[in-house]
Amino acid sequence: MGERLYKTHCANCHMDGGEGLGALIPPLKGSDYLAANRERLACMIRYGLKDTIMVNGKVYAEQMLGNDKLNDIQIANVVNFILHSWGNNQPPLTFEEVTNALGQCEN
Ligand code: HEC
Repeated sequence: MGERLYKTHCANCHMDGGEGLGALIPPLKGSDYLAANRERLACMIRYGLKDTIMVNGKVYAEQMLGNDKLNDIQIANVVNFILHSWGNNQPPLTFEEVTNALGQCEN
């Protein structure tokens, strides 16, 4: 389920292999930013990210829009998909951790 949602909602920017796109779209594959911000991923997906961020030593300053079509379960599935795909080996988040995070987004 996570993979299908990823292909529909994320892959057009972050690409099927999670490698991102040039200087505009940061990679999810092997991303140190993703690994360091596990608890914030759900909020980023729902409300977007508009920041200047550093991913694997490169600066990204474009905006990612929030996605208001995904419910809490779908966000949990996408988060866990990106945490363990393409060689990413981050521990999964429970559904409870994701809903708690979504209740406390800073947006
Ligand atoms: C329209 C293009 C677009 C779509 C669609 C999109 N993103 Fe992004 N994403 C971006 C951009 C641009 C950034 C960098 C934002 C910034 O610099 O503040 C980003 C940043 C991120 C980051 C943090 C940086 C990193 O590489 O680790 C994560 C995680 C992420 N996106 C996951 C997702 C997921 C999951 C989806 C699908 C639910 C998604 N994105 C959909 C464009 C997109």
